[in-house]
Amino acid sequence: MPLDFSRRSDVHAWHRAAGDIGPPWRALSTPSALVKQSAQEQFFGIDLGTTNSLVAWGKVTRRGSVFKVNPRAIEVAQGPYRFDFLPSVVYFDPGGGMLVGQPAKDRSQDVERVCRSVKLKLGTQTRYRRNGQVYSPTDISAIILARLKQAAEQDRNCDAIQDVVITVPASFDTDKRVETLNAARIAFFDPARGTAGLSLHLLDEPTAALLAFLDDQKAEGEGEGTIVDFREPRNVLIFDFGGGTLDVSIVQVQQGGAAGFHIVPLGLSRYTEFGGDDLDLHLGVHLLMAYAEQQGVDLAGVDPHTLRIARRKFQEIAERAKIDLNTRVLDLRGLGGDGRAPDAAAQVEALNLGLPGFADTPFHHSLSAAEFAEVMHPFLDPASGESAVHYVVDTLSRSGLTRDDIDYVLVTGGCSQLWCVRDSLLDCFGFAKDDGRFLLCLDPIRAIARGAVIQHHFLATGCQEGIGVPPTLAESIKLLVTHDERESFVTLVHAGDLLPMKVDDVRAFSISTPGRGERQLAFRIFRGDSNAREHLTELTSKIVRFDQPQQRRERIVCSIDMGADKILNFHAYLESRAQQRFELSVDDGLLDDDAVIEARRRIFSLPR
Ligand SMILES: Nc1ncnc2c1ncn2[C@@H]1O[C@H](COP(=O)(O)OP(=O)(O)OP(=O)(O)O)[C@@H](O)[C@H]1O
Ligand SMILES: [Mg+2]
Repeated sequence: MPLDFSRRSDVHAWHRAAGDIGPPWRALSTPSALVKQSAQEQFFGIDLGTTNSLVAWGKVTRRGSVFKVNPRAIEVAQGPYRFDFLPSVVYFDPGGGMLVGQPAKDRSQDVERVCRSVKLKLGTQTRYRRNGQVYSPTDISAIILARLKQAAEQDRNCDAIQDVVITVPASFDTDKRVETLNAARIAFFDPARGTAGLSLHLLDEPTAALLAFLDDQKAEGEGEGTIVDFREPRNVLIFDFGGGTLDVSIVQVQQGGAAGFHIVPLGLSRYTEFGGDDLDLHLGVHLLMAYAEQQGVDLAGVDPHTLRIARRKFQEIAERAKIDLNTRVLDLRGLGGDGRAPDAAAQVEALNLGLPGFADTPFHHSLSAAEFAEVMHPFLDPASGESAVHYVVDTLSRSGLTRDDIDYVLVTGGCSQLWCVRDSLLDCFGFAKDDGRFLLCLDPIRAIARGAVIQHHFLATGCQEGIGVPPTLAESIKLLVTHDERESFVTLVHAGDLLPMKVDDVRAFSISTPGRGERQLAFRIFRGDSNAREHLTELTSKIVRFDQPQQRRERIVCSIDMGADKILNFHAYLESRAQQRFELSVDDGLLDDDAVIEARRRIFSLPR
């Protein structure tokens, strides 16, 4: 009998079936002796990262007069892969099964069988052909989310979790947000059956980091001993440098209100695909060239397939070397060695590379901090348009602010742990290392998931107005209008506008229809700050069909609004026939229930 995913018992049946798809799934045991807890008394947050994902939970506890959610990350795998973060990698084995997380990452060199860094491809036409099936980035994200959900339910021994807050880069556009929500629904998060008033929610990653920081500060106590005194408004620049994206967000924070803080957004970076993956790829090529030189191999003569595998292998080697070197540098600095190019080096070793055309000798290389900094120069040099600091400067200037306007810099994301990234930020702002203006999240890898838990709690208790940073857009949203074959753009939402836009704040305007007899009209929506088509990115296009043919040059009254999830909605009608209204949502891409159920069957190979 086919599974019916509108029934909770069948969802559980799927979870049991999922236990068969690979070691990390099987490794989880259910602590059956514990009494089942209701998911509704607990709060859950997910950091769906390009390279690593986490799920965290929290429950309200009281210490004196302070109520806290105490978020903590959940262990997602046991046994040899005992970690609370899950590499965002899926491996399709030749037998038709799937591995998710570390065991999949361990097989990353099998480039035809793994899917990784799919977050950057959400909302695009990228497809992965694996085991005779075609998967979208949304499908792969759903597999990762389902794995996190299952781990959370087993760890908390609670009924199916329906509601969750999932973090996304602040600069994610509508299509990517919609696909994140689709992935969550395919992954069995089912807000329709969730607690009243709760739903699936997206939260911007820098905001999540800030919430975690403020919560940690609350743990330290109010007033005395507090890391930052927010009794006066303070401008904080949040720098989130992860595995695949770099987000810069500027906010003003002040103590007060029901939730403890008022947060006003001041600026946001453009969508920036730049992260640890790029650093690793770059360092990996440097190490591969060193290996080829040791072996006397001319890389120009190596066949493209071997080269692709070699690059992937060296990217992995580079990531390990980067983290190892960074740990050594920070250890040395902790011991008092505070020079800019500390005397640290990581020994990079790789045995059995097994690359066709290369002799099977191991690779050894001593990677010094100075060599690493030199290789990373384009990513660190403030004068380079590709450097991390460049994105900070760009965001400041787009927000009409200068470095002097920034009171504190809060850093988060795995790559912000790199000593050389921190140094370049300190230099950029002219902060001294210990002057207390450079703030670190206690645990940069987990801060974002923990912040999502706090947001889930605020949403559940109706407190979000007090603490949630009103979302804004990094770039304007525009509609292409054609008159007499001449194109122009109407700005629907300006960069920096506070969202959700209120009903009386909706943008209403009229456009004329293309001509007599036409029954349809194309809406083409673009993102960008320019008015020149070549500098804009098309977000989506929608064809609206009418029951009756239009008159010549009829006017359409169109208003738009945008929700807190940054999903754009249109409401429009023909001026002559106000009763014939149509709604058009850029969340048109949201899957309906049938499509969600079909996607679950297809992706998780469930019996029909
Ligand atoms: N101790 C460390 N030192 C230096 N780099 C590190 C360290 N730990 C992790 N990283 C790097 O941080 C990156 C992952 O960071 P993070 O987990 O914040 O990214 P993500 O959430 O997967 O990606 P994104 O937020 O961009 O979607 C990887 O490139 C990883 O190599
Ligand atoms: Mg991240």
